[in-house]
Amino acid sequence: MSNLFRVKPLSLLGQEAAESGEHSLKRSLGAINLVMLGIGAIIGAGIFVLTGVAAATNAGPAVSLSFVLAGITCAFAGLCYAEFASIIPIAGSAYTYGYATLGEFIAWIIGWDLCLEYGFGAATVAAGWSGYLNSLLQQFGIFLPPQFTDVYGAVLVKYQDQWMNIKQLPAGVNAAGLPHVTGIINLVAMFAILAITTILVIGIKESANFNSSIVFVKLIIVGIFVVIGGYYLITHPQHAAANWHPFIPPSEGHGHFGWLGIPAGAASIFFAYIGFDAVSTAAQEAKNPQKDMPIGILGSLVVCTILYIIVSLILTGLVNYKLLNVPAPVAMGIDVTGVSWGSTIVKIGAVFGLGTVMLVMLLGQSRVFYSMSKDGLLPKWASAIHPKFRTPWISTIIVGVIVAFMPAFFDVEALSKVVNIGTLLAFTIVSAGVWILRVRNPELKRPFKTPLVPLVPILGILTAVYLMFNLPLITWEVMLGWLAIGLIIYFGYSQKHSKVQAMAKEANGD
Ligand code: ALA
Repeated sequence: MSNLFRVKPLSLLGQEAAESGEHSLKRSLGAINLVMLGIGAIIGAGIFVLTGVAAATNAGPAVSLSFVLAGITCAFAGLCYAEFASIIPIAGSAYTYGYATLGEFIAWIIGWDLCLEYGFGAATVAAGWSGYLNSLLQQFGIFLPPQFTDVYGAVLVKYQDQWMNIKQLPAGVNAAGLPHVTGIINLVAMFAILAITTILVIGIKESANFNSSIVFVKLIIVGIFVVIGGYYLITHPQHAAANWHPFIPPSEGHGHFGWLGIPAGAASIFFAYIGFDAVSTAAQEAKNPQKDMPIGILGSLVVCTILYIIVSLILTGLVNYKLLNVPAPVAMGIDVTGVSWGSTIVKIGAVFGLGTVMLVMLLGQSRVFYSMSKDGLLPKWASAIHPKFRTPWISTIIVGVIVAFMPAFFDVEALSKVVNIGTLLAFTIVSAGVWILRVRNPELKRPFKTPLVPLVPILGILTAVYLMFNLPLITWEVMLGWLAIGLIIYFGYSQKHSKVQAMAKEANGD
């Protein structure tokens, strides 16, 4: 008889971690590669796009406090991820940790839920990427057919010689007299996903090298913004003082400014932090996972938290928060300084930067499917390894093709919030898992130990759930709908094909 809460034995996970040969993943990533992988996944659409929206609609200049709050939430979860990644260095991340501690059913829920984070996340970023690329190309006089640059049904207008989504028109401009077209499909976003899928099929080392070189470019661009913007504010203190005052604007309704605007902003910009946990999906490709996974997870989180707080403070000092509801707020910020090449550089940085985010998200998604398939919860093809490239090529291609279609049909802002709720649910379950494993298997060797257990896991759960409640109701509905589809697949297929269930039946002589 099958048991929904049967856990995957840690000894079996240990055997899988030790597998080698042409049908296993290749261990080639060091600590620096992993930190870079994390930064590559973290810095993206969140800081380049959503910071402006959160400042303009939720928190004002206090959006930097939203970054602190979201960063603290991630730190609790990051410490829990680091402990798990050091004990269970297997591809699959939260899904695998859930299987070892909370049982198969919860593991399935996490694995399915992670699609919201990685698959939908890559789609969200692809849509943001297409916007930046298009804006950059237009700046150089290259015009792609606008109907192939946005979602189906989107209205695009030509204003000041630039095609843009009608929602991006400056306030007060009458769209009626402007040339306009209706979006058919976002081919630019599709192209991005398919190109990155190709890189991922070719190899993990190649993917990591591609990632490391681009992360470097991305960090330089953020550095340029901080130096130019910071210098401007130091030399124009009255400008900064005027924009930072009031630091917490008076409330205009629940979640709109005032003290409660800070958590509402944190729930939105939480998207900016997503990605450090994706490091753990590459655990089976790390050379020395016990030591290097915690460094990769926590190192990338610390670097990005510091950068985000600084960037958001400088941005709201440069531009009044009321004006920041634009698609490229960071480029707008640098424009204020009068450095004419600044915004072009920022756009180039965003185009490259968002590329690495998509790479790690797609990597994470295919590795989660790989692990679920190895456990029999998904069909065998999902874990087939290419003999030459040593990557899970079929699942990478299938994920790539499905994700490539998403930005063509789904609204970006709504998608990003669904990604947030899905990720926060995964954080909640991982935090609970660390605590449960401490109680159930205190003797286990833990190369990295989460400090102050159970306090840190409890705070991890409470802060994640608090941010979930700061997200709109519709995101809950989408998440629950998605999980309902997952349950149908679990009971229709996965439970019957589960290897852990089969092993248990054999042991019981059923
Ligand atoms: N953290 C990633 C981003 O901001 C998902 O795009």
